[in-house]
Amino acid sequence: MKVMIMGMDGYLGWPLAMHLSARGHNVTGIDNFSRRRNVEELKSHSATPIKSMSDRLKAYQRKTGKKLDFYEGDLTKTDFTDKIIAEEKPDCIVHLGEIPSAPFSMIDVEHCNYTQTNNIVGTNNILFAIKKHAPKCHLLKLGTMGEYGTPNIDIPEGFFEIEYRGRKDTLPFPRQPGSWYHLSKVHDSHNIMFACKIWGLASTDIMQGVVHGIVTDEMTSDDLLTRFDFDEAWGTALNRFCAQAVIGNELTPYGKGGQTRGYIALRDSVQCMTLAAENPPKDGEYRVLNQFDETYSVNDLAKHVVKVSGEFGIDAKIWSIENPRLEKEEHYYHPDREKLPALGFKPTNDLDAELRLTIPKLMKYRSRIEEKKEAIMPKIKWRG
Ligand SMILES: NC(=O)c1ccc[n+]([C@@H]2O[C@H](COP(=O)([O-])OP(=O)(O)OC[C@H]3O[C@@H](n4cnc5c(N)ncnc54)[C@H](O)[C@@H]3O)[C@@H](O)[C@H]2O)c1
Repeated sequence: MKVMIMGMDGYLGWPLAMHLSARGHNVTGIDNFSRRRNVEELKSHSATPIKSMSDRLKAYQRKTGKKLDFYEGDLTKTDFTDKIIAEEKPDCIVHLGEIPSAPFSMIDVEHCNYTQTNNIVGTNNILFAIKKHAPKCHLLKLGTMGEYGTPNIDIPEGFFEIEYRGRKDTLPFPRQPGSWYHLSKVHDSHNIMFACKIWGLASTDIMQGVVHGIVTDEMTSDDLLTRFDFDEAWGTALNRFCAQAVIGNELTPYGKGGQTRGYIALRDSVQCMTLAAENPPKDGEYRVLNQFDETYSVNDLAKHVVKVSGEFGIDAKIWSIENPRLEKEEHYYHPDREKLPALGFKPTNDLDAELRLTIPKLMKYRSRIEEKKEAIMPKIKWRG
């Protein structure tokens, strides 16, 4: 299959590119390297010393004999996106090329508009180019479980049956996102659903949980590492806790710590995206998959990190701090997760087993975390 990965330089994009290539797919990537610049803006860097794209491509070819193609460019530029999709005519586009940080989008109006314009315009450019040049191409788009928010009822996979005033219908499940970033994903979902309806495109909108970890089978040497962020805006809760443990700082859950979300290890996120790409929906179908493995509260995550880092001689402590976000700190959370297991998804490791891989890997880069540790504690506040 000919696959394009939008956002191939990112945390998920690089391991996915290697995995799809290892499975024999023909992979072309796109990126504008904005993630690297946006992390630098917040005075941080990846804990792992990631290579430039040209060095990554060379290292991958040297190790495997396989070639990954790459174009540098910005998906919000309509002519660029139109041209590459016209040239490549892929069977599948995996669209990861967005700005994925809730705190970054909450800094001020510029960061809100940058996030929403980047994400919504990029996705629309892809939709229009697919319609024009590759109408049979499957768009596999990464949304987020955060689109649903934390309703006090079970969360289905995209749609639910509802009876209201004696009439029944199957409707999109209400979205109640908690940041300007998550709202950009909701707007994307609506735009993609509409494009499938009017143009008969096929798309999978993946509602992904929080991804953690750093290891995949293809990351066989340091020059193939993916990024691992730990600062307040780009590091997800679990990744931040791991980094804090490694430098001997307290782990800092926000508020009461009962905020519960779906989590999935990096290698399993790659496994799920591969399954979805290799099992596309029908023409005209807008398919929604909830992609996570286990649910944990923030306090649970911190306890798991304390336990596993103890196995490596680290005496980590938990210190709750004021919550900079506006979110429920204790709530019901019960999302469905049936469609990916039906496609064959089998989680590789439980959380502790994955942490046993992540923590020693990070210990190797302790000095890089130390160097930017000021970036960990939250300064961006939801209420400004
Ligand atoms: N990592 C997670 O925990 C997680 C959870 C849920 C959803 N997601 C979603 O998965 C996707 C990938 O996440 P990630 O963690 O790999 O993020 P990432 O920031 O590491 O990767 C995204 C890549 O896209 C590139 N990019 C952004 N805008 C672009 C543009 N206009 N043109 C070209 N390239 C552009 C960035 O430079 C970056 O390399 C995102 O859409 C994110 O919202 C991630």
